[in-house]
Amino acid sequence: MRKVYLDNAATTQIRPSVIEKMQEALAHNYGNPSSTHSFGRTVKTAIETTRKTIAKFLNAHPSEIIFTSGGTEADNMILRCSVRDLGVKTIITSKIEHHAVLHTVEELEKEYGITVSYVNLDSFGNPDITHLKELLQQDDSKKLVSLMHVNNEVGNIIDINAFADLCKNNNAFFHSDTIQSLGHYNIDVQETKADFLTAAAHKFHGPKGIGFAYIRRNTGLKPLIFGGQQERGFRAGTESYHNIVGLEEAFVTAYENLEKESAYILEMKQYFIKQLKNTFSDVAFNGHSADPDKSTYTLVNVRLPFDEQKSLMLLFQLDIKGIACSKGSACQSGSDLGSHVLSQILTPDEMKKPSVRFSFSHYTTKEELDYVINELKLFAEN
Ligand SMILES: Cc1ncc(COP(=O)(O)O)c(C=O)c1O
Repeated sequence: MRKVYLDNAATTQIRPSVIEKMQEALAHNYGNPSSTHSFGRTVKTAIETTRKTIAKFLNAHPSEIIFTSGGTEADNMILRCSVRDLGVKTIITSKIEHHAVLHTVEELEKEYGITVSYVNLDSFGNPDITHLKELLQQDDSKKLVSLMHVNNEVGNIIDINAFADLCKNNNAFFHSDTIQSLGHYNIDVQETKADFLTAAAHKFHGPKGIGFAYIRRNTGLKPLIFGGQQERGFRAGTESYHNIVGLEEAFVTAYENLEKESAYILEMKQYFIKQLKNTFSDVAFNGHSADPDKSTYTLVNVRLPFDEQKSLMLLFQLDIKGIACSKGSACQSGSDLGSHVLSQILTPDEMKKPSVRFSFSHYTTKEELDYVINELKLFAEN
C-alpha cells in the first residue's frame, strides 16, 4: 500500500545521518560518562561538546542546556521547579498550550495552591498581550508566564520577544514551550529574553526520548531528579549518550539546512492549501494556519466541508489509504475528547466539521500531496 506521512508535528522521520551517528555511538562508545577511565572520559567529552554546540546555536552558555528525556520532562521540570524554588505563586498560561504544560500547571495548582490564570485568546487563538499585561500587574505575587512559541495544532506563532520583554519588564519569569519551533526557527537567547525554553529532538528528525531545557543562568532552579552528579548535579541518571549524539546531529543538520528546507516545506504547504481551495470551495483553515506570516511553515490545520456522518469516518478512511495525518495532537489519539485547542477557537458549529492537521517535512513531495487531495476528493464524492 502507498504510504504518505503528513504527521510531522507528532514526530518526524529520523535523518539517515542521525541514524549513522547513533549506530556508531551505540556500537563503540558504550562507556559510562561518569566513569573516570578512557571509555567514560571519551563519552563525557563528547556530551560536553554537544552541549557547547547546542548552546552556540542559541547564543547561550553551555551550562544553560540540560538534557532531558524529551519535551514533556523539560516542561514539567521548569514549571515544577519554578513553583518549588523561585517562589512563584501565580502561573499565567493559555488554554491552547500542550498538555505537557496544561496538566502540569493543573497539578501544581492542586499541590501547591498556586493561582493559575489564563490569558484571553482571540478567535484565531492569539494570546492577548494587553490582557497579559493586566494579569501581570493585578497583584504583587511572583509570577511565571508560560506561552508556547509555535502552537502544535494550529501552527500559530507568537511574537516571543514581545511576550518575553513584557514579562521581564514586569519582573515575571517567562517560559516558552519551543518544542515545535526549535530546529525550525532560530532563537537567540540574548535577543529573546525568555528564562526557559524546551526542545525535543524527535520534532526535528532526531530520536525520541531526548530533548533539552534551556535554563537561563542564575535563575535558581534546583534539581527535580536526585541521584548522581550528571548534568552538573541538575538531572541525575546516566546520560543517554546515543540519543544525545542523535539530537546533536539532528539539531546541527536542521540549522545548516534551515533556509533551504524551510523554503521547500513552505512551498509544499502553500501548494497544498492552493489545491485544497481549488478542490473544496468551502474549505476553511483553523487559527492562522493558512497565513504564512503568522503560522509555522510546517503545518496546516484544515476544516473540511463534510457533514457530521462523514467526519467520523475521515481519519479512518485516510489511514486505510496509507495517509498519516492527525486530528489535533497525537497525544489525543485514542481518546474521544476532541481538540482542547480547537474547542477554544471554533464555534460549536465549526467544531462539527472535521478538522485535520497535515504537517510537512523536507521529505514531503507535491506528488504525495496530489495523492492526498485526490483521496479527499474521492471521499467527499462517495
Ligand atoms: C508543543 C509541544 N509541547 C510538548 C510536547 C511533548 O514533547 P515530547 O513528546 O518530547 O515529550 C510536544 C510533542 O507532542 C509538543 O508538540
